[in-house]
Amino acid sequence: MLVSLICICAYLIGSISSAVLVCQVFGLPDPRFAGSNNPGATNVLRLGGKVPAVLVLIFDILKGTIPVWGAYFLQIEPVWLGAVAVAACLGHIYPIFFHFNGGKAVATAFGALLPIGLSLGGMLIATWLCVLWLTRYASLAAIVTVTAAPIYTWLIKPIYTIPVSFLTALIIFRHRSNIARLLKGQEPKIGKKKS
Ligand code: G3P
Repeated sequence: MLVSLICICAYLIGSISSAVLVCQVFGLPDPRFAGSNNPGATNVLRLGGKVPAVLVLIFDILKGTIPVWGAYFLQIEPVWLGAVAVAACLGHIYPIFFHFNGGKAVATAFGALLPIGLSLGGMLIATWLCVLWLTRYASLAAIVTVTAAPIYTWLIKPIYTIPVSFLTALIIFRHRSNIARLLKGQEPKIGKKKS
């Protein structure tokens, strides 16, 4: 019962689309209908620059971290913490407050995985930065990082490997338009103006 309530709260917190709200505050176009049409930090960076993008990034990470930490402090069984993480990410992807038109949950999933351990967080950030630095593709960095996440988790806390693998599948599924653009060589790079 408590687990179900926490999952519902996690979904509702995840459903707060920070990208849409921050863009409204900064007078920017709605990120669901501009740029890559993705309400996430990368697209807000394109539309409005670093300050709103960093705000979105922080808020989206917290949307994942807060419910999982909350559940942890309420002494929810480890096996259910994964369900809380998935609920927060489903909220971000299919937000009830924003016509179920959400983002790709990269930052929210990262936030949800942080309570597993700072070493995992460090490995994920290092992987993401490395691929971004090499390719300048935020989407490819996200895809490679979430693909590596279950392996890192298995090495650090194997009990969470299954929910993390589920998040990986969900996030890759949400990147299918990016994958199509990457294959066609049409994906915009970070730091480059769209030609
Ligand atoms: O984290 C989202 C990123 O991987 C892709 O964003 O806006 O390029 O679709 P975007």
